[in-house]
Amino acid sequence: MAKVILLNGSPKANGCTATALNEMVKIFHEEGVETELIHVGNKGVRGCISCGYCVKNGKCIFNDDLVNEVAAKFELADGLVVGSPVYYGSPNGTILSFMDRLFYSTSFSKQMKVGAAVVSCRRGGNTASFDVLNKYFTISSMPVASSTYWNQVHGFTAEDVKKDLEGLQTMRNLARNMSFMMKAFAETREKYGLPLQECEAFTSFPDGK
Ligand SMILES: Cc1cc2nc3c(=O)[nH]c(=O)nc-3n(C[C@H](O)[C@H](O)[C@H](O)COP(=O)(O)O)c2cc1C
Repeated sequence: MAKVILLNGSPKANGCTATALNEMVKIFHEEGVETELIHVGNKGVRGCISCGYCVKNGKCIFNDDLVNEVAAKFELADGLVVGSPVYYGSPNGTILSFMDRLFYSTSFSKQMKVGAAVVSCRRGGNTASFDVLNKYFTISSMPVASSTYWNQVHGFTAEDVKKDLEGLQTMRNLARNMSFMMKAFAETREKYGLPLQECEAFTSFPDGK
């Protein structure tokens, strides 16, 4: 059975972001996809300190929050949904700190795990935030699931989001597309294996050193 992890970056367990993610969860269950919704936004997640501990040890130096725990689950999952409220036109600080550390500290292959970003704002900043979150996937060989609109809802409260019918429809279609992709990739991986990934080159300067 395919498994997807959903991260709620909002400090609110039952706010706008959660409402959007729960709309997806309903469809994932209809599609026979196992889900785990993890609340990240209520934790004190500090930022990456670029210490290099993870490069040698394969995990983040900080064990004080969820990063290493979610990393182990992410390794086994077929997909990852990251949900965030918009703060000043960007994803909120907690989810950005979390995603920086989750992606930087994990060396396991994320190739063909399906990613999806979901954002919630009252008025503006959704598409800019959506673009930021998608970048974690598109540097990691993760195909991105899309929907019938950019994956966003609008509201200040969960009740507002329940009235955003197109937003909720976008979430349901996203979950259907993502379920299809996860199942199709699992079957194809079984049949053909994963595509070759060359990783030798690591160019930081014009002379290649
Ligand atoms: C610090 C802060 C900054 C915010 N900045 C924006 C913003 O730039 N644009 C916007 O439309 N809403 C902004 N909002 C409102 C939230 O993005 C919006 O209410 C969101 O749907 C809340 O989601 P949640 O209930 O899951 O936390 C901000 C809220 C806070 C607390």
